[in-house]
Amino acid sequence: MKDLAEKHIVLGLSGGIACYKAAELCRLLLKAGATVQVVMTQAAEQFMTPVTMQALSQRAVYGSQWDPRAANNMAHINLTREADVCLVAPASADFIAKLAQGQADDLLTLMCLARPADRVPLLIAPAMNREMWLHPATQRNVVQVQADGAVVLGVGHGDQACGETGDGRMLEPMELLDELISFFQPKVLAGQQVLITAGPTYEAIDPVRGITNLSSGKMGFAIARAAREAGATVTLVAGPVSLPTPRGVNRIDVKSALDMLTAVKQHEPTASIFIAASAVADWRPASTSESKIKKDGSGQPPELQFVENPDILATLAQSERGRSRALFCVGFAAESHDLMANAQAKRARKGVPLLVGNIGPDTFGQDDNALLLVDENGARELSRDSKLSLARKLMAEVAHRIGAGEVNDEN
Ligand code: CTP
Repeated sequence: MKDLAEKHIVLGLSGGIACYKAAELCRLLLKAGATVQVVMTQAAEQFMTPVTMQALSQRAVYGSQWDPRAANNMAHINLTREADVCLVAPASADFIAKLAQGQADDLLTLMCLARPADRVPLLIAPAMNREMWLHPATQRNVVQVQADGAVVLGVGHGDQACGETGDGRMLEPMELLDELISFFQPKVLAGQQVLITAGPTYEAIDPVRGITNLSSGKMGFAIARAAREAGATVTLVAGPVSLPTPRGVNRIDVKSALDMLTAVKQHEPTASIFIAASAVADWRPASTSESKIKKDGSGQPPELQFVENPDILATLAQSERGRSRALFCVGFAAESHDLMANAQAKRARKGVPLLVGNIGPDTFGQDDNALLLVDENGARELSRDSKLSLARKLMAEVAHRIGAGEVNDEN
């Protein structure tokens, strides 16, 4: 099922150069399964034609409160009655000012004012020059529209169309899509602090070589995104992977298992949930050569000695906070065979209330997975699905177990 399936979105455009991004956003919303009704101000039509937005949204665009197409001549009422959300992107300084004052002299502001606010939330994506954004009048208006119930999605930082650099850019279409998808996810982990490890670790032999494994980090990153979507504050300690950081997640990059342990210990005291999705290397070279190890001409490979890495999950699970469940610890088990028996044995050995088993070679690097949830009462399968869908189901399970939310039992 697509992330925005069955969602009807009213996409409002006010005047600003960022209207060019609204075209791409419209495409992304449709691709994610939504239906989109575009409403444009006259100023927006200076930057983007209604023809383009109609072609992309596959629906006639509305721009005037006097539009005679609506039988009752009340486009400002009709347009939001079937909507799941109104998203105004770009939201200009002028639009936000009007919204703050309850002005309604064009279709977009009129429609925002006339929408049933209790069931059709209003999200706005500001876009303007940095001076306009920082101006006390704009900041005052932003505070006011938030107090009136609008969700202000924040702004990007960087080069602006005017040639200046700073805050005020509209978020990128992909970021807005993620924000919207996140908005619709149940906030089952609101108030929770989730600490996650992800990806492989890299254990250096010398400055140019090391040992690592095939973990892509995708499952851990999907969990970080899902936890954030569920309303948690998320810290993600990531081994060497080249994945984008999920929006709103605090990411700490590490290389070795020892680095990972240090970062985890630093953030553990404030965490309420720890999820160990990393494929931590079990061993590291006993010593790391400071210079590249050269062949010595004898034909003999160098003799490498290994020492065992600390078990990060077991360390936390068996700490006082872990044992008392003040820190709810979730482990993963990447197995190659006998998943049920190995996962059950591993759960007991690590001392975690919940362990998630998967077959490593079936999932490393892939976008989907199948999980086996093992706890003291037995096991439950989460059948093959995208890693993000599984991560969302896992977050609902964790929320249920810590008494923070209700599990959706559809799977
Ligand atoms: N783990 C960890 N620190 C380690 C090793 C593993 O935190 N040094 C965590 C992993 O993140 C995972 C769980 O422990 O959540 C199990 O990891 P896995 O590699 O499947 O098991 P191992 O503990 O390495 O056991 P074995 O090698 O016997 O399978």
